[in-house]
Amino acid sequence: MFYSDELIEEVRSRSDIVDVIGSYVNLKHKGNSYSACCPFHHEKTPSFHVSREKQMYHCFGCGVGGNVFTFLMEHENMTFPEAVEELAGKAGVALPERSMSKDEQKRADERTKIKEMNKIAAGYFHYLLKTDHGTAALAYLTNRGLTDETITKFGLGYSDKFSDDLYKYLKSKGYKDEEMIKAGLIKVDEKYGPSDRFWNRVMYPIIDPNNRVIGFGGRVMGEGTPKYINSQDTPVFDKSRNLYGLNLAKKSKRKGIIFCEGYMDVISMHQAGFDNAVASLGTALTVGQVNLIKRYTDRVYLAYDSDEAGTKATLRALQIMREFDMPARVISLKPYKDPDELIQNDGKEAFEKRIEEAVSGIMFEIDILEHNYNQNDPQERTEFQKEAAKCLSKIMDPLERDNYIKSVSEKYNIDSKTLKETVTAYGAAGAGKVDTSIFRPPERRGSPEEEKEKQQLKTERVLITWLINDNELIPVIKEILTPEDFTDTVYNGVVRLIYEQYDAKGKVEPAVIMNHFESKEEHEKVSSIMQQDFGVEIMSDEKSGAITDLVKRIKRKSIQKKIDSAGSDFNLIKELMVEKKSIEKIKINVQ
Ligand code: GTP
Ligand code: MN
Repeated sequence: MFYSDELIEEVRSRSDIVDVIGSYVNLKHKGNSYSACCPFHHEKTPSFHVSREKQMYHCFGCGVGGNVFTFLMEHENMTFPEAVEELAGKAGVALPERSMSKDEQKRADERTKIKEMNKIAAGYFHYLLKTDHGTAALAYLTNRGLTDETITKFGLGYSDKFSDDLYKYLKSKGYKDEEMIKAGLIKVDEKYGPSDRFWNRVMYPIIDPNNRVIGFGGRVMGEGTPKYINSQDTPVFDKSRNLYGLNLAKKSKRKGIIFCEGYMDVISMHQAGFDNAVASLGTALTVGQVNLIKRYTDRVYLAYDSDEAGTKATLRALQIMREFDMPARVISLKPYKDPDELIQNDGKEAFEKRIEEAVSGIMFEIDILEHNYNQNDPQERTEFQKEAAKCLSKIMDPLERDNYIKSVSEKYNIDSKTLKETVTAYGAAGAGKVDTSIFRPPERRGSPEEEKEKQQLKTERVLITWLINDNELIPVIKEILTPEDFTDTVYNGVVRLIYEQYDAKGKVEPAVIMNHFESKEEHEKVSSIMQQDFGVEIMSDEKSGAITDLVKRIKRKSIQKKIDSAGSDFNLIKELMVEKKSIEKIKINVQ
């Protein structure tokens, strides 16, 4: 650990977990807990919970969990010290200088080097574009309507027609082959040796929101295949968590963010004044990308290509947006193929109008449906109406749902009362409340030994949950059970910390306990005990009985274990047998 426990705890206690996680995830407030669809796995109903009281989070769907630090480590890919530094900065806690571990230093150096090389490469490509070598490339971009200002703003460039031009240039700057390969700028052929990944192409640097060049797209000038070559993922470039143009779009004063497919669409829109456009990087929209833009906006426009593939991508994106509670509207580009073509042909006023006329995701989906059915055939028309009702039943908010029912019944001439009844029949009322646990496959049963062990762990877990939820129990239990009585090493660590905290402060702070565990597995295990809640009020005599039972079981097991390993030390065995007998007398009385 680089920082003292006290300092780490100060940073943690000044960083409210609901605020921190809330800045990345759209949390819904319910009772004394906050929930959301889990940012760590794909799901439709929220099973990710954040507790302000405990300062912890836990997902009942995939099992992740922890405190503010673990959240940043998992969600932002930070190391523990990085997470502490990030939060210290925000909370205004001054940290001493720290030295990195060797491994950390190595990875940090590697990333720094790659970013450096990318920056040099981008500068070099941009320089080439303005020399004799880049005449054709510059003409290509100018012919596509790009101004000098736009070319500079996006740092566009040209990779020379010699296939080792960049390699030689980077070599002259002192970079090693392995480094260039790691950066994805160079590839090596056994027979021909090293060569540039990008050559004789127009170059689009991909710049992240912190203004660092993380990768490239390269286009052939004119016809030819492949049309684009894109950087592969590297230690600094993860396609699924970045968006082209976000470095500029994040500063835009326009409402919302426009998503489109291509580099040229983004550039064209920005040049026309729509500087809130971004593109996913040659992949379908990902959960990571939606998480990313949630930090910058609360509404999205989709301007994907108007062809079949684009429509499919739109429907898929709408589904993801809905799962993230992100309102999305769809911009129609017809009869043009993409935003670039529309703007080139009809100009920016026409595009502005298209934005104003953008339809909500639901209306778009129902429009697509309509075309799939022959509206003159009663049978098919009924099917269409049913499908539309199914679509509407997905709207959770009752007012919003009613408004849409009205719009749809008007637009497609469906009796609104009947439509509403059908929507209700499809379960609008209970939509989203489905208990998915019943769909989980039954747990595999292990051998009797394994089952016994599982049972024991459960007993230990339940008792710890009691201790955390009801601190008054701690002094009582502490008299009977030592941390070592718990067979699981993580659990006995937790119990030891609970006892220590109680002695020092008279209460337990779950998130502090978390600071003492390091691995992801441990974090998940600890957070799952911390987040358990019995949910029901239990009468005190019932509670006394239940806890007495748990304590006895733990003690019995613990003594039995000692007996098993006592070998032939008969005196010890005798003592243990006496102790074991006395267990039966234990009776705990709680209020
Ligand atoms: P222009 O034809 O120059 O207008 O390109 P565009 O930006 O409109 O791209 P298009 O709509 O054809 O494709 C969308 C995105 O998919 C591009 O920006 C690329 O990221 C990616 N893409 C397109 N073609 C290829 C290809 O041949 N290979 C790879 N790897 N990606 C491609
Ligand atoms: Mn295009």
